[in-house]
Amino acid sequence: MIYLDNAATSYPKPEAVYDAAATFARTSGGNPGRAGHRLAVEAETMIDDTRRLLARLLGAPRPERVVFTLNATDALNMAIKGVLRPGDHVITSVLEHNSVNRPLNRLERDGTITLTRLPAGADHLIDPQAVAAAWRPATRLVAVTHASNVVGTVQPVGAIGRLVRERGGLLLVDAAQTAGVVPIDVEGDAIDLLAFTGHKGLLGPTGTGGLVVGDRAEPASWRDGGTGGDSASPLQPDELPYRLEGGTPNVFGIAGLRAGVRIVLDEGVEVIGRRERELVTLLLRQLTTPDRFAFYGADDAFLRGGGVGRVGLLSFNLAGFSPSELGLLLDHTFDIAARSGLDCAPYAHRHLGTFPDGAVRLSVGYLTTANDVRRAADALNEVSALAG
Ligand SMILES: Cc1ncc(COP(=O)(O)O)c(C=O)c1O
Repeated sequence: MIYLDNAATSYPKPEAVYDAAATFARTSGGNPGRAGHRLAVEAETMIDDTRRLLARLLGAPRPERVVFTLNATDALNMAIKGVLRPGDHVITSVLEHNSVNRPLNRLERDGTITLTRLPAGADHLIDPQAVAAAWRPATRLVAVTHASNVVGTVQPVGAIGRLVRERGGLLLVDAAQTAGVVPIDVEGDAIDLLAFTGHKGLLGPTGTGGLVVGDRAEPASWRDGGTGGDSASPLQPDELPYRLEGGTPNVFGIAGLRAGVRIVLDEGVEVIGRRERELVTLLLRQLTTPDRFAFYGADDAFLRGGGVGRVGLLSFNLAGFSPSELGLLLDHTFDIAARSGLDCAPYAHRHLGTFPDGAVRLSVGYLTTANDVRRAADALNEVSALAG
């Protein structure tokens, strides 16, 4: 199988990730912080080391402000529900994933918050000036994706962050598509809350992710429970990361994630991101009849701009096929794993004019080869010949 659904989760993982998770499970499987014995201490030391590596990679203020979660969705819910209060106004965008849309929509429906959903430009970017124009006295949070999982455009989070900071609000960035492939600087870009997955560009196992909490944000605990230390306290301890980490963490997953983050730090985010953009450019160059596809602006961005400002994914449609038909054809006939449909981002597809059927998405990853994308292009060439 040629796996081109890395925007959903990276697969396969590097051998070092499998080895680290399996070795840790076999040799050091204690419950971190829950006891003073060697295995518990080893687990806690490994988790703290992973926090340190992530803090370095993401520009977090301090390692203890990196909180482990199950995935990006968990982190986004923790951030949104942890900082918003009745009467708050929130600014978000049409490019968001449902893990931002749905928690915000529910708070809006329940009358807790008011919500402004900004449009994206024809360039699939959110204009920082539109954030400024939508600002109200009650605005507390701006929640934006770092890169859209549908069009792959990297958003100007630094400019938005500075503007939000001047006005005294909080910026929440969804880095599900960028951690590991686009440089991230929480402190430098005035980001207050950054949600990331461990299982995409950071190459870790599913069930890993996290929230970086900047110095100005103090999300309330929302999953109260055991933390190992402070057991006498009747309430969740206030101290981070424990305030947000009730319950036994995914120790084996985090052991695998540490191996993934080490690879990313050793090789460099810029190098990995550039390689992925080159693979998408190569795929596009191999197409014999590119005009038959609708690429939503991405073909130009890659062919003329080398994909700068994009992550390594490509959404498209081909006349004569619904996205689900094309996805099934790629899977069953060509053994290619692609995503088709709305990508959990319905407002983004409304923006593109592709709602309700969506599009087909191919996304490369750390272990994708030039041969993989050539074979994918061959498949698309064959299918487009059928369509023609
Ligand atoms: C932009 C974006 N945000 C959030 C998520 C949710 O990530 P997770 O599945 O780790 O919760 C995804 C996953 O596809 C995504 O692409």
